[in-house]
Amino acid sequence: MLNVALPKGRLGEKVYDMFERAGKGCPSIKENNRKLIFESAENGVRYFWVKPSDVAIYVERGAADVGVAGKDILLEYKPDIYELLDLGVGKCRMCVAGKKDFYDDRERVLRVATKFPHVAREFYAGQSRDIDIIKLNGSIEIAPILGLSDVIVDIVETGTTLLENDLAPLETIFPISARLIANKVSFKFKHAEITELQEKLEQIAK
Ligand code: PRP
Repeated sequence: MLNVALPKGRLGEKVYDMFERAGKGCPSIKENNRKLIFESAENGVRYFWVKPSDVAIYVERGAADVGVAGKDILLEYKPDIYELLDLGVGKCRMCVAGKKDFYDDRERVLRVATKFPHVAREFYAGQSRDIDIIKLNGSIEIAPILGLSDVIVDIVETGTTLLENDLAPLETIFPISARLIANKVSFKFKHAEITELQEKLEQIAK
């Protein structure tokens, strides 16, 4: 039985379809209910719907053998897992954004609002820029509008949220997409099962 942690939400549904095409279907998952765990004994798979930012924790600690997590989460939390494959979905980018007329006065400490404090810290350390991190949990775009921060470090997908709040992307930090990840012990003991899945998903992701 392969235990799989999937990110709850639209991306997770897309990813589940890829797993189904890879021979790991579990029809009960499509039933519209609030259940979080689904199993197909026939296909030897058990799925858990978890919060996207928690997938890597389940995989790192072995509660799931494999899972799907965004590159943003992997770079922020640096979990001790194997990253097996870029699934080519959930594409977006990590950006610095701010007011359209933002001018960076390097004499001053830059106030950065973000859900990704490690990513932001590493990025600005690379530029030897002094920053003050303001850790928020969502609706980050409000911070520069209300003067809580000078800029934000956040995910930009379509750019609509920035545009509708009179903000603009100022710099791209890295591109993001969903990755297949594996627990290190599971990768050893369920090697044939996991590599077979990886190879099938690789064909589908192409
Ligand atoms: C993410 C991100 C941006 C938005 C970007 O937020 O933090 O706010 O999506 O998407 P767009 O470029 O297509 O507009 P999310 O939906 O995760 O909500 P949050 O405010 O809780 O972070």
